[in-house]
Amino acid sequence: MDCSVGRTDGGTTGSHAHADTFIDRSSHFALTSLANSRARELRYAEMNQAQPSLLEDPSIGKLSGVLSFKDDIRQLAWNGQPTEVKTTEVDHDGNTVRVETFTNEFWTSKQRAGHSLHEISYRACFKPQLVDFFVQRLTDPGDLVYDPFMGRGTTVVEAALLDRAVAGCDVNPLSRVLTKPRLAPPTLTQVSERLHALDLTFGDDYREDLTVFFHPETLRTICALRSYLRKRQTAGEMDGVDEWIEMVAVNRLTGHSRGFFSVYTLPPNQAVSIDSQRKINARREQTPAVRDVVQLIIKKSKSLLRDCGDATRQRLGAHAPGAQLLVRASSRTPELRSASVDLVVTSPPFLDVVDYATDNWLRCWFCGIEADSVPITMARKLDAWRSAMTEVFGELRRVLVPGGHVAFEVGEVRGGKIKLEESVIPCGKSVGLEPLAVVINAQRFTKTANCWGISNNRKGTNTNRIVLFRNPE
Ligand SMILES: C[S@@+](CC[C@H](N)C(=O)[O-])C[C@H]1O[C@@H](n2cnc3c(N)ncnc32)[C@H](O)[C@@H]1O
Repeated sequence: MDCSVGRTDGGTTGSHAHADTFIDRSSHFALTSLANSRARELRYAEMNQAQPSLLEDPSIGKLSGVLSFKDDIRQLAWNGQPTEVKTTEVDHDGNTVRVETFTNEFWTSKQRAGHSLHEISYRACFKPQLVDFFVQRLTDPGDLVYDPFMGRGTTVVEAALLDRAVAGCDVNPLSRVLTKPRLAPPTLTQVSERLHALDLTFGDDYREDLTVFFHPETLRTICALRSYLRKRQTAGEMDGVDEWIEMVAVNRLTGHSRGFFSVYTLPPNQAVSIDSQRKINARREQTPAVRDVVQLIIKKSKSLLRDCGDATRQRLGAHAPGAQLLVRASSRTPELRSASVDLVVTSPPFLDVVDYATDNWLRCWFCGIEADSVPITMARKLDAWRSAMTEVFGELRRVLVPGGHVAFEVGEVRGGKIKLEESVIPCGKSVGLEPLAVVINAQRFTKTANCWGISNNRKGTNTNRIVLFRNPE
C-alpha cells in the first residue's frame, strides 16, 4: 500500500474549544494599510503567542491587492520563526521565470481548531486551515470559491463556513457523496429517527466475500442499509437525511478501531483488497466482531455535528442552495460561468502517488459507483501530468474573474526529488496566469501522520507547497 503522501488525513484537526464559533484570523488581523509595520508586528506577535480570539462573524474582507498578500505573509512568524523568503526559478519557453517563495509554519492544527464538520477522512486531503489562509486573505464574503479537484470537499465546506459562495468538481461521484450533505447538515434527531425507522434486517446483494471485513450480522445490516439507499436513489427520493446517513456510513465502513463497522484494517480512506485483508486477519489472528451499525452512525453524526449551532447552519444555509458540485473531469466545466470565480483553492491528483479508485473501492461499492469506470487522472510521467494540468489551468483561467486567484497545492512527491511546484508554474503561465508566489507550509510531524504510518521527510513530508497565480485584470 502506497503511503507516500505526507498530508495528514485531515479528519483530525485538533481539539475543539469552541462550539459554532469561527476564528477569523486574518480578518481579526487584517491589515488594510501597509503603513504601520510596528503595529502589524505586534499583532502578529499576539497571534503567534496565543490561540486567536474567536469571532462569530467572518465579515471583514480580503487584504487589498497582491502586494499586501505578500507583505502579509512576509510578516508572519510562528513561534518566533520568521518567514524565509527565497526565489524559485524555472525555465519557461527559454526564459527564466522567478517567483518569490515564502516558507514558514503558516498554519498548524494547533493554531486553530477546524470545524467538526471537516472530520471526514479522504486520501491526500488538505486541512481546512490551508483553505482558510487563502480564502480570508484573497476574497470577501459572498465571493465565489471553487475547487476543481474537490475530494472530500475541504475547500467547499470551509469556504461556505466562511460565508463564501462555493463550487466544486471531481471526476469521482464519491466526492459529491462526501461533500453535499455537509453543506446542509440534518439534526441529530432527524438522523436517529430515520435510522430507527428503517428495517435493516434484510438486504439484497449480500456479498459473502466481504465477511473478511465484517461479521455476517454486521454485513447483513450494511447490505440492508445499502439497498435502502440505492432504492431511494433510483426512485429519486433521497433527501438530505439519507444523504447524510450515506456519507457517515461510507466513513465508518472500514478502519482500525471499534468505531468502524469492520475488523481491524487500514484507515478508512485506504481500503485494502479482499486478499490483503485475509492476510491481515491471519497475521493478527482476528475475526470480525459484531458491530452496531446504527449506533456507530449516530455516534459519528454527533461528533460531526458538535460545532453545528445556529450560526453555522445559517451560514451554510445561505450558500448550500447555490452550490454547484459537478461530477466530471475538471478540464471541461461548461456549467460554470466564465469570469465568475474569485478564488480557486485546490490540490490535483499527484503523478502516480495515490490510486483514488483502488483506495475507494469499498466506499464506491456502498454508493453504487463503478470504481473502475471513473476516469481519474493518473499520470505516471511528469510530461503527461503537466499536460493534464495545463488543460485544467486553461479552464480555470476561463472561469476566473479578472484579478481572481488560484492557490494550487502540490505535495512533495518521490521523496522530494520532484518539486511539482516547479512544474506547475509553467502550466499556469502558458495559459496566461501570472505566478505570484510559492507558499510553503512547513508542517511539523503530527500524531495523525504517525498513526497512519507516514514518517516526516521519509516516505512523504508534511509540507504543503502552494503556487499562487493571479488572473491578470
Ligand atoms: C488530492 S485529491 C483532492 C483532495 C481535496 N483537496 C480534499 O481536501 O479532499 C485529488 C482529487 O482529484 C480527483 N480527480 C482526479 N482526476 C480528476 C479529473 N481529471 N478531474 C476532476 N477531478 C479529478 C480525485 O478523484 C481526487 O478526489
